Amino acid sequence: MKTNFRTSTCGELRLTDAGKTVTLSGWVQRVRKMGGMTFVDLRDRYGITQLVFNEQTDADLCAEANHLGREYVVQVTGKVNERYSKNANLPTGEIELIVEELNILNAAQIPPFTIEDNTDGGDDLRMKYRYLDLRRETVRRNLELRHRMCIVVRNYLSDLGFLEVETPILIGSTPEGARDFVVPSRMNQGQFYALPQSPQTLKQLLMVAGFDRYFQIAKCFRDEDLRADRQPEFTQIDCEMSFVSQEDIIQTFEGMAKHIFKELRGVEFKEPFLRLPWAEAMRRFGSDKPDMRFGMEFVELMDVLQTGAFPVFDNAKYIGGICAPGCASYTRKQLDQLTDFVKRPQIGAKGLVYARVQEDGSVKSSVDKFYTAEQLLALKEKMGAQPGDLILILSGDDTNKTRKQLCELRLEMGERLGLRDKNKFALLWVTEFPMFEWSDEEQRLMAMHHPFTHPMNEDIPMLDTNPEAVRADAYDMVCNGIEVGGGSIRIHDPKLQAKMFEILGFTPEKAQEQFGFLMNAFKYGAPPHGGLAYGLDRWVSILAGLDSIRDCIAFPKNNSGRDVMLDAPSAIDQKQLDELAISIKVGS
Ligand code: AMO
Repeated sequence: MKTNFRTSTCGELRLTDAGKTVTLSGWVQRVRKMGGMTFVDLRDRYGITQLVFNEQTDADLCAEANHLGREYVVQVTGKVNERYSKNANLPTGEIELIVEELNILNAAQIPPFTIEDNTDGGDDLRMKYRYLDLRRETVRRNLELRHRMCIVVRNYLSDLGFLEVETPILIGSTPEGARDFVVPSRMNQGQFYALPQSPQTLKQLLMVAGFDRYFQIAKCFRDEDLRADRQPEFTQIDCEMSFVSQEDIIQTFEGMAKHIFKELRGVEFKEPFLRLPWAEAMRRFGSDKPDMRFGMEFVELMDVLQTGAFPVFDNAKYIGGICAPGCASYTRKQLDQLTDFVKRPQIGAKGLVYARVQEDGSVKSSVDKFYTAEQLLALKEKMGAQPGDLILILSGDDTNKTRKQLCELRLEMGERLGLRDKNKFALLWVTEFPMFEWSDEEQRLMAMHHPFTHPMNEDIPMLDTNPEAVRADAYDMVCNGIEVGGGSIRIHDPKLQAKMFEILGFTPEKAQEQFGFLMNAFKYGAPPHGGLAYGLDRWVSILAGLDSIRDCIAFPKNNSGRDVMLDAPSAIDQKQLDELAISIKVGS
């Protein structure tokens, strides 16, 4: 790391360097004056070194040090010395630098928040001054991990013969279920590029071109509502392979997942990952991305609770329960909190029924007046509940909706019971997704993955008779309840692709207009192919134990999709609008 400005970094000096004369450059983290001595913590990307200025040896130099402000950029030369009181928390904590020369490279204004692990800066402030936030070690470490992840991935894929190919950012629309970000064209007025939601169609064209194994660490753009694991601009590790079946792809990318965990977390997975068909995942966990770090599986209770006495349950299409171990002692207040939780508009349940299994094995429930003691014992049996357990029950007239509500409750209980440990990793494949889902908004069937996904071979005859029952040759990888990747075997037969567009409500003309380039390409010898894309940001945030993917992105957008540092999006000049022949609607 030696340059004209330094001989060493602020993170590398040790006791073995004592006696050496060195030059360091970095930022002033803190200045402390103690008697006739001044101590300065000097920080760079590599660590912190304590500088010492002694009034008795050089009063002028010490006075200069006393005037250093936080975040000043300085260069110092001095002698490495063994510290009198050592700091075991710092790798450089056994030494200090007795400064002989101080050169202020740049002054700094007082930063708007403290640049330390536990900063006093709120979210918005840190986003506005992201370049200062990035000076904090905690944030920087996430980006270092991201860098290492990219290297591990590139090496792994390259060793397997994958070629990294860049695809364009200015393209036409690629439908992946979200809205496009569009870019106007000055040279083609009135026309727009779309930013890729993923390089999906382009990677398929690379397979037609014979590239056989492609990957790209690709920027993707989706105009959708943001959540902790979603950004409008994110990065995929996008891959495609030719002459493969689902099994080939799962083997390749399961191997890659195991390799990543071993290299970056030192965690070894010896067993093959669990594979769960979508319908089973929904039945047992109410989710297509179940968090398998803990059990609390759903139990269907229609047979034990539809007795003709409690109309809410008698009229329900689905009744499901989970068993929270050791929670029978929950207070009224805690149970009310859980009821409020499931009734929140985002979850939307009408109410929550609970049953406590007492120490003597009897059951005390919120619906005691509708059920006999024997019926409640049958409930306990069915749930497999033990004394001390709390049974939580939701019901509704829409099975999938109620399962999703119960899923939220399961996750909440998992959180309360400390079962969602960030240092534990539960990975699985979810397979056999439905090919289509009905959209109330569009009043038509939509592709659940994307329109290029191949149906499972045995379900193809149902495309004409019962398309909603057709399963896709698609798979997602899930880690700790987060979808970290997804892919499918693609359609390579132009006739089947045309049929798919027809089922999705495209007229042949519209399909030709939007996807003619792909269907035409398929006429020239498309190999059977398939692929997958991992979400890089999600992977890094899981490996680093973060709550939000924002923390592993250098310059992320906030929850309203804004970059508060660059103040984007923003209005543009009238001149620019004129060149693009765009007029803005008044009031918008
Ligand atoms: P899919 O839409 O499932 O598939 O995306 C693949 C993976 O990308 C990540 N991801 C996101 N990460 C952060 N913010 C977002 N807004 C976001 N959206 C998706 C997820 C997800 O699993 N072309 C297909 C892949 C294929 O079929 O090969 C695709 O994009 O981790």
